Amino acid sequence: MIKLNRRQLMIFSLFSTGGIIAQKLLSNKNNNLSWAKSTPAVYKSKNGLLEVELIAQEIPVNIGGKTAYLLTYNGQIPAPRLEAKAGDKVKIKFTNKLNNSTNLHYHGLHISPNNNADNVFLEIKPNQTFNYELNIPENHHSMMGWYHPHLHGYTAQQLSGGLAGLFIIRGKLDEIPAIKSAKEKFIVLQDFSFDNNGRLTDSRMMSLMMGREGDVITVNGEINPQISLNQGEWLRLRILNASTSRFYNLSLDNNPFYLIATDGGAIASPQEMTRLLLTPGQRAEIMITGENKQSSLKLINLPYNRGGMGMMGNGMMGGGMMGRRNNNPSQILATINLNQSNQNNQSVSLPNQLNSITALPPPSQVRSFTLNHGMANGMAFLINGKSYNHQRIDTEVKLNTVEEWELINTGMMDHPFHIHVNSFQVISRNDIPENLLAWRDTVLVKRGERVKIRIRFNDFTGKTVYHCHILDHEDLGMMGNLQINT
Ligand code: CU
Ligand code: CU
Ligand code: CU
Repeated sequence: MIKLNRRQLMIFSLFSTGGIIAQKLLSNKNNNLSWAKSTPAVYKSKNGLLEVELIAQEIPVNIGGKTAYLLTYNGQIPAPRLEAKAGDKVKIKFTNKLNNSTNLHYHGLHISPNNNADNVFLEIKPNQTFNYELNIPENHHSMMGWYHPHLHGYTAQQLSGGLAGLFIIRGKLDEIPAIKSAKEKFIVLQDFSFDNNGRLTDSRMMSLMMGREGDVITVNGEINPQISLNQGEWLRLRILNASTSRFYNLSLDNNPFYLIATDGGAIASPQEMTRLLLTPGQRAEIMITGENKQSSLKLINLPYNRGGMGMMGNGMMGGGMMGRRNNNPSQILATINLNQSNQNNQSVSLPNQLNSITALPPPSQVRSFTLNHGMANGMAFLINGKSYNHQRIDTEVKLNTVEEWELINTGMMDHPFHIHVNSFQVISRNDIPENLLAWRDTVLVKRGERVKIRIRFNDFTGKTVYHCHILDHEDLGMMGNLQINT
């Protein structure tokens, strides 16, 4: 029998079951503990099945050397990463140890919105356990999904507390030689706001109108983590914006990188770029070459102005939320250290073709959705003039049909629009055709902008939602119910 000391025991339990460590940490009276920093647990499917237990619970976590009391799945920031393949079954035994009701949404996954699958209408009460069962269809793209709470009214508060994890579907893209041989690194971007005692800031103190932003930005739960890359090696960065409201305007200090995938998986061929804007909910995969002269590359978040309601003055929504954001300085999110070697390592070149994507055909139905805000029992965020109502079906569509939706932002701030269950293609922005053919589930509609998207409702009937992924806006009404019929 091996004897473990307290610290080893802690680390051991961190890798076995998150629930146990959560209990241990909560019962621990010593405030001077320095928690071992661990990469989040990874759970992969075996023989077509992934079985995992997730416990949502508030626990103390080490963020940048300070203790913060965050909302976690299995005690981890970010939550454990789940990995499955097309055709797999995923069973999640979920227990809610939060003070409020919650549920789980599997963002970006093409799975059923009904029963015990991606059903955002479920309410899992405190101390209740619920068994989710997801069937990943055989035709599922290899892509980067994620999971987070989605109970209307609580979504923003719970996500901003830390509840978010990756849900990866492995497949074809991972098998392309240059991608397969690359160093794969996941980047989960989160931001937190807490007081001097490490307690999450009361949401009444936050600027919910603009959408709350925390001033502590973490990358995989760390502040400015270091990533090492060998000369001649490619780095595949798989980035998720898991923040409630913050946009990330990413740059590699003006060094070029190559976009290979968006929300719903691989694009047709790598696109060279130097900037990447990621709204809440969006994902992107980029390839970075180790063939650089510098010894390090910095992943930088540049300022971005997502609008605001400056004319509303300094009332309850005022103060810090206005103006300040427009002058946000750049922040270093992560540092990539390049190891120069004497060996003559030749980089494998990226293939011209990553995926074959066909443009969706002309639609059988055209609709428009106007995004704005107004008054409805106080400040409300509206789609087509209406604030969200659980009972109302806002949009009824037919299975296996293609629709074109025009998203019109007549308000003063940007809104990232997200649709559950099926991915879509962006057709145009203000009638200017979009030149990148890509699968997305979240698209930015800037203030004053009209964005056309096409979507096909495949495989699943049932009731689900579309909404703004600034989750304070969603909680304040910018969501609609979508019924998919046979
Ligand atoms: Cu989401
Ligand atoms: Cu919004
Ligand atoms: Cu959603």
